[in-house]
Amino acid sequence: MDRIHLWVVFMAFIVLLSVTSAETVQVREALVQFLQKLDPGNNPGEENWGWNMSSDPCIDAWKGISCDKSMQFVKKIVLDQLDFTGVLDAVSVCSAKNLAVLSLNNNNVSGILPDEVSNCTRLTHLYLHGNSFSGDLPGSLSRLSNLKRLVISDNGFTGGIPDISRVSGLLTFLAQNNQLDGVIPKFEFSNLEEFNVSNNNLSGSIPDVEGHFNASSFLGNPGLCGEPLPSACSPPPPPTEKKGPSSKMYLMYLGYALIGLILVSLIAVKVIWKSKNKKKEIAKKGSQTDAKKDKISSSTSSESKRGGNISEYSITSVESGMTSSSLVVLSSPVVNGLKFEDLLRSSAELIGRGRHGSLYKVTLNSGVTLAVKRIRDWDISRDDFKKRVHRIDQVKHPHVMPVVAYYCSRQEQLLVYQFQENGSLFRLIHGSQNGQLFDWGSRLSVAARIGEALAFMHEGLKRDGIAHGNLKSSNILLNNGMEPCISEYGLAEVNNQDQSFLPPNDIILDKASPVNNAFKADVYGFGVILLELLTGKLVQNNGFDLGQWVNTAIREEWTVEVFDKTLVSEGASEERMVDLLQIALKCINSSPEERPSMREVSAIINSIKEYEEKSLSSEA
Ligand SMILES: *[C@@H]1O[C@H](CO)[C@@H](O)[C@H](O)[C@H]1NC(C)=O
Ligand SMILES: *[C@@H]1O[C@H](CO)[C@@H](O)[C@H](O)[C@H]1NC(C)=O
Ligand SMILES: *[C@@H]1O[C@H](CO)[C@@H](O)[C@H](O)[C@H]1NC(C)=O
Ligand SMILES: *[C@@H]1O[C@H](CO)[C@@H](O)[C@H](O)[C@H]1NC(C)=O
Ligand SMILES: *[C@@H]1O[C@H](CO)[C@@H](O)[C@H](O)[C@H]1NC(C)=O
Ligand SMILES: *[C@@H]1O[C@H](CO)[C@@H](O)[C@H](O)[C@H]1NC(C)=O
Repeated sequence: MDRIHLWVVFMAFIVLLSVTSAETVQVREALVQFLQKLDPGNNPGEENWGWNMSSDPCIDAWKGISCDKSMQFVKKIVLDQLDFTGVLDAVSVCSAKNLAVLSLNNNNVSGILPDEVSNCTRLTHLYLHGNSFSGDLPGSLSRLSNLKRLVISDNGFTGGIPDISRVSGLLTFLAQNNQLDGVIPKFEFSNLEEFNVSNNNLSGSIPDVEGHFNASSFLGNPGLCGEPLPSACSPPPPPTEKKGPSSKMYLMYLGYALIGLILVSLIAVKVIWKSKNKKKEIAKKGSQTDAKKDKISSSTSSESKRGGNISEYSITSVESGMTSSSLVVLSSPVVNGLKFEDLLRSSAELIGRGRHGSLYKVTLNSGVTLAVKRIRDWDISRDDFKKRVHRIDQVKHPHVMPVVAYYCSRQEQLLVYQFQENGSLFRLIHGSQNGQLFDWGSRLSVAARIGEALAFMHEGLKRDGIAHGNLKSSNILLNNGMEPCISEYGLAEVNNQDQSFLPPNDIILDKASPVNNAFKADVYGFGVILLELLTGKLVQNNGFDLGQWVNTAIREEWTVEVFDKTLVSEGASEERMVDLLQIALKCINSSPEERPSMREVSAIINSIKEYEEKSLSSEA
């Protein structure tokens, strides 16, 4: 069975359907009813703004309505500050199936936000700030899988916050000044741009906001506790029934505490003694070491500091045998003669932190900026590490970032790259609000380039068993010419990869050939990147699983829903999007054995790209 062809027919059918009609009479009727229910009576003389049955919402430009390019479908309804006092009729407004933006800010709409708001399946922006809504937030909000910005601040909403953490790609959640209660569900805080639940009646401990939000997002909730609020959560009350053992336990803890105290004071004494010694040394050396505040300075504790992206970092925790000769410069005109001290003296900014290490942006005094990857707790011998880095350096590909220099000690490894100002593929896909910049042609070409580069690396390094190990869109960087470059190749342990990127089967299955699995895990990671390119959605580990979602969507025949709306509205070839989707799904097959090799994947993508180019030139 040739599924692709079935799909093409299916797509063609959909396209035909959509070409033949503008918004139907039913939709117009529903929209007119939606406006009536909002009760626009406070605007004498212009209650209807053209919203009537005898005209077309797009062609006759009903007030507040914007349509797609072909003027067939209502995409946006923006009716801010018009003194509406009625209610929101979700069933009616959602009969406009393509509605992406609904904004009713600063009116006086009352009543509930109906469950049927989830009928607006393509909704990306819902703005209801400054109204008189009341009642509970509908749980169906979590089914609005395309939602990016949800603003319900300054209303009278009550009840709990539904678990919208399932909505991947949510960027904004503003719900301040309501009467919401219960606990805050776990959001994917690292993806959110805006978050505010101040002035509600929320309680319990705040989930880990991963340093992305401060107290000002949580103010005015008497029952809330924990970071980033100053009020710590009180520990659960000690069990009172079992008095005998518990008092023994207290004694035990007291013992531990004493031992701890002694240890701490010992360390403190040592540290003070050491720093005195250091000061003496520095005094001897004279003013040469005029230590700037923001240079790479002391202590591992700075790494655990929360609440900001900029942080100092240290390499001094490394054992003392560190000398300038430990830094090996591979090949780069940019940093000719770079010394370890140069790194230490430069200002550093923490720009990313993962499970196995951190990434810093280091600006040398010469003005050159570098990205320094610091890997910790990687149980690899110096020799193996060296060999690995040199092997990767030998297999050069223009779309793989070269290592400029490296440093290696027993506890940690540093890798130095040239810093790329243009950010990552992740930012390109998810960063810009409507992604106009990133059209279908560019996405296809990014896919082809990374696919080719990865196939090349796999072939060159298969014998050494060095896979990428942690392939994801945030590891694909854009160079000065906006060309994609794979970074951090081979920096994850084969057996200790970021497991969020391995489907569960990979870990259990096939322990016999972890190396082969590592290559297949790269193929999986690449498949996920393809899905991100196609859907514009985030991959999340928390509940939502992009691969699973896409599979479900296809099984239920809402394939078109899967694609990024900006691609669809741009008029990207659905046939070729479906083709690319097919490969993506093969790559994320739950059984590693079933996944194609990167060479096969790359060949197919190249042929899709050729078709695309041919069809463009035949159009022209
Ligand atoms: C309907 O709206 C159009 C403008 O969109 C207007 O020209 C026409 O007079 C309106 N008809 C009625 C019956 O209100
Ligand atoms: C909003 O509507 C309510 C009645 O639903 C009314 O009591 C209140 O005064 C209105 N507020 C404003 C600002 O118009
Ligand atoms: C809207 O949603 C409700 C349930 O949420 C469903 O029964 C109804 O059929 C939907 N209406 C449309 C027009 O899709
Ligand atoms: C806030 O919630 C608590 C229970 O957590 C309840 O006792 C209290 O009445 C609520 N306050 C308001 C103003 O709703
Ligand atoms: C908290 O964050 C907001 C923006 O997210 C910022 O404007 C404000 O200055 C921050 N406040 C503190 C105390 O850091
Ligand atoms: C959150 O909302 C409260 C109340 O409107 C405001 O004082 C605070 O500055 C807001 N915080 C952020 C981060 O927007």
